[in-house]
Amino acid sequence: MDDAAKLVLNGQEYPLPVVVGSENEVGVDVSRLRGESGAITLDSGYANTGSCKSAITFIDGEQGILRYRGYPIEQLAEKARFPEVAYLLIYGELPNAGQLDKFRQDLTYHSMIHEDMKKFFEGFRHTAHPMAILSAMVTSMSSYYPETDEDDEYLNIVRLLAKTKTIAAYAYKKAIGQPFVYPQNSLSYCANFLHMMFSVPAEPYEVDPVLEDVLNVLLILHADHEQNCSTSTVRMVGSSQANLYASISAGICALWGPLHGGANQKVIEMLSMIQADGGDLKKYVDKAKDKDDPFRLFGFGHRVYKNFDPRATILRKAATNVLDRLGVDDPTLDIARQLEEIALEDEYFVERNLYPNVDFYSGIIYRAMGIPTDMFTVMFALGRLPGWIGHWKELREDPKGRINRPRQIYTGAVERDFVPVDQRG
Ligand code: SDX
Repeated sequence: MDDAAKLVLNGQEYPLPVVVGSENEVGVDVSRLRGESGAITLDSGYANTGSCKSAITFIDGEQGILRYRGYPIEQLAEKARFPEVAYLLIYGELPNAGQLDKFRQDLTYHSMIHEDMKKFFEGFRHTAHPMAILSAMVTSMSSYYPETDEDDEYLNIVRLLAKTKTIAAYAYKKAIGQPFVYPQNSLSYCANFLHMMFSVPAEPYEVDPVLEDVLNVLLILHADHEQNCSTSTVRMVGSSQANLYASISAGICALWGPLHGGANQKVIEMLSMIQADGGDLKKYVDKAKDKDDPFRLFGFGHRVYKNFDPRATILRKAATNVLDRLGVDDPTLDIARQLEEIALEDEYFVERNLYPNVDFYSGIIYRAMGIPTDMFTVMFALGRLPGWIGHWKELREDPKGRINRPRQIYTGAVERDFVPVDQRG
């Protein structure tokens, strides 16, 4: 591999250094390009642009590979628990027994939110989308836990991981008009969330181990995905040295969009709409292919995976297992499977490498767990938290870290003089 690329512009050659990663990914370093040539690169949607070097997650879109700090997602989903995956993503190594015990204990003992923070919920309408509540409450955490020095960093990371699941459960309770349920220190991270979601004062909820285990898998599968839209947002905001809570809240807002984390909610709404419309799958596949029709098959396609999304493969199996073990007969699962079969044989989808992504099956599992549709993206956010935190920490620890400030190519009006209002057309 040459250690330099060459750009020829207006007859002038500009050597550009080449960076090769630990998995042999090749990047052309253009950081000096504007200074030497006056030109910038342009890449709508950043499909060909690397924003940073990172040691957290590796994805090979062609091979359908996803690894967190080198560990294959398939092994982590099968053998690990979410707190240890969170530790791995944030601190770089799987915790030993002592580190895991302390991390788990810290996550447990920081699960309660400040009693005054509960008052914020009174200001939200009961119809407020839980993602609006989640982003607002996470930002407000910075007013309770101001960033002072690096000693606080661990504590702020633990507080964020521990309290966000409580805020999520309280957003659900707010929507259904039930009282908030305090966390139980005897429960695991996942069991505590389910307890706070489904217990009522008159009748504590008996956590079903099937649900606890599938929630663990769902959170692990969503835990990180390199420079996706929301993680890049966290890095963008964190690069200005904004505090952890403000940076993560920005990521929550980016995740909310239907093209990103909001897709899991749209998938279930789409499947339910198809079912209500008589289940005419071909009609909706044709709509998705019609350029004049804004309809898209939510849960299909991915910027990076041009083969299968390994997370979708795991969730497809998990959906069947969970529904069987819970004795749930959900017709949307059958519709999802049939839709997948039709799409994967359709030339339009095949030639564009459009396969089911992580959002295609996750909603079916969340629904079987009794989680309402508008909470699905909140569930995605709970999973993605350690990834966001890991990337925020990685950028803050970069000694060469700079504020992210992309350039542009201006296409507006050229210079012109001001015209007083009585002389305008
Ligand atoms: C997530 O980046 C990440 O890693 C994200 C994520 C993570 O873990 O963080 O994996 C999580 O966000 C998964 C994606 C969830 N979104 C959806 O399911 C929404 C539906 N999918 C699409 O909107 C789309 O596929 C994206 C947003 C996922 C990817 O968009 P790209 O890479 O910009 O692709 P594109 O829109 O340029 O599409 C390329 C072609 C176009 O057709 P042509 O112009 O070539 O004719 O494929 C078509 C698109 O019209 N296309 C679809 C489609 N997705 C792409 N056509 C119909 N249905 C779809 N779902």
